[in-house]
Amino acid sequence: MANEPQQQWWRKSTVYQVYPKSFKDSTGSGTGDIKGLTGRLDYLQELGIEIVWLQPVYVSPQNDNGYDVADYRQIDPAFGTMEDFDELIRELKKRGMHLMTDIVVNHSSTEHPWFQEARQSKDNPYRDYYIWRDPAPDGGLPNNWQSKFGGPAWQFDETTGQYFLALFDKTQADLNWENEQVRREAADLMIYWAEKGVDGFRMDVINLISKDQRFPDDDPSASTGDGRKFYTDGPRVHEFIKELHAKVFGPYNLVTVGEMSSTTLEHCIRYSKPEEREFSMTFNFHHLKVDYKNGQKWELKPYDFAELKRLFTEWQTGMQQAGGWNALFWNNHDQPRALSRFGDDGEYRTESAKMLATTLHGLQGTPYVYQGEELGMPNPDWHDIREFNDIESKNMYRILQERGLTGGQALEIIRERSRDNSRTPMQWDASEHAGFTEGTPWLRVDRRYRQINVQSEQADPHSILAHYKQLIKLRKQEQVISDGLFVRLDEEHPHIFAYSRIGETETLIVVSNFSGTQTGFSFTEDFWASRAGNGARLLIGNTRQTPAWGKTLEIPPYGSYMWIIR
Ligand code: GLC
Repeated sequence: MANEPQQQWWRKSTVYQVYPKSFKDSTGSGTGDIKGLTGRLDYLQELGIEIVWLQPVYVSPQNDNGYDVADYRQIDPAFGTMEDFDELIRELKKRGMHLMTDIVVNHSSTEHPWFQEARQSKDNPYRDYYIWRDPAPDGGLPNNWQSKFGGPAWQFDETTGQYFLALFDKTQADLNWENEQVRREAADLMIYWAEKGVDGFRMDVINLISKDQRFPDDDPSASTGDGRKFYTDGPRVHEFIKELHAKVFGPYNLVTVGEMSSTTLEHCIRYSKPEEREFSMTFNFHHLKVDYKNGQKWELKPYDFAELKRLFTEWQTGMQQAGGWNALFWNNHDQPRALSRFGDDGEYRTESAKMLATTLHGLQGTPYVYQGEELGMPNPDWHDIREFNDIESKNMYRILQERGLTGGQALEIIRERSRDNSRTPMQWDASEHAGFTEGTPWLRVDRRYRQINVQSEQADPHSILAHYKQLIKLRKQEQVISDGLFVRLDEEHPHIFAYSRIGETETLIVVSNFSGTQTGFSFTEDFWASRAGNGARLLIGNTRQTPAWGKTLEIPPYGSYMWIIR
């Protein structure tokens, strides 16, 4: 049966995330498209990818780059046609690869016909598809919840004199999951794609679908007092997801990943434990907030390394003990590049990109590679707000100045935190616009593309690309990478993250230096005596010379090694 671990083939697979707008343009429009992706499947197959996660290509006004869906069953002409989509599925299947699509059902675009109907009148049959509230007695907002993109979470509708809830952009209206009809629509549209041959779904902010029906005010003095505790992992969320599993995920044997905003370990265990019949695995973002000052994305601080390691340990151990499953990732389209954040994107770019990769790919879970990560693409080096395109960045540039920052200070924060950092076009070769388009790209290509591109890395056996390929292969070969028990080894070392994965007969050891200085690392007496003393074989490393095996290791700047003891 589909829930038995041996049926869970994706536990040894690596997923590749495609941001279609920036992957490959086949028409010269300046925007990537489905045909562009289909033309590059050989590249992904060669990398060892088995699952491609394609981000939203549905009809959309593109206010939030496709996460504002106006028709869940049609392809946006900017990305191509349904024939192109069918061809993509055929070409993937030919290569034994699988397609995972993005499902955005916490909200729809306000241009969706459901919303267009709903806003006509209070008694329209679609009214209850969305969340409407009267103004407060003083005529103000129904409560003090804040949008994730800045500003209040409620939008006033003139025609009917009520507010609707929009937790993201003002054109992304939250759907009302209390309404059974909405839940049926969501299941039906997923069945539609499953029938077409899609093998899995990435479920956008799916842990926000169940709102506390009292809609209480939050405490605005708390650092997270934006209302999130009243709709994150909400009262009926597990019930709603189990319903989707019963109707769709189970019957079609799909691989599913839930994107979990501000979630907890306890909830992610429930979301991802096979017996619960909810999702295959979950994304959480705690490890990507270690450089948020007071938990605030728009306040900078150097990242907290001890906290980063503590979080990996907590999630590895917690999920492992309870039988949950992590989606492992450093990057996605909403995050600045991890290389620029946790590594050194200058002098040690190659070493630190490989170091981050090895550290992550040795963990338990299913790794996700975000386009360009496998090349070591850094944040683009932009110094003008006009380079930025993302709605969140634009809103925040304004809001930060309203809060009293100068334009220059606001720009400094946007440069670090903008989602556009990871949305620049994929770098294929050294030709103009990095071979991404023959037209003018919708977002500027990073100026370092002549050095950092697929073509040049394919030709180099020591490239970051070659390193990723090897890591992806190792996960398939070494059972201990999927199954081994995670044990942290570094205590509180200021620069080293070291862990082991203990299997029945084998032990995997990963040691990574997160700093630009050479540093020593020693195994404990116990570990050395019980496991490591008899010698180990290097599986993968990132320097030409590997530190000599011993109780104490000398690790060069950004050095990172994976050893196995059999
Ligand atoms: C998710 C997406 C993000 C989008 C948001 C609203 O976090 O990854 O890109 O803006 O949901 O749909």
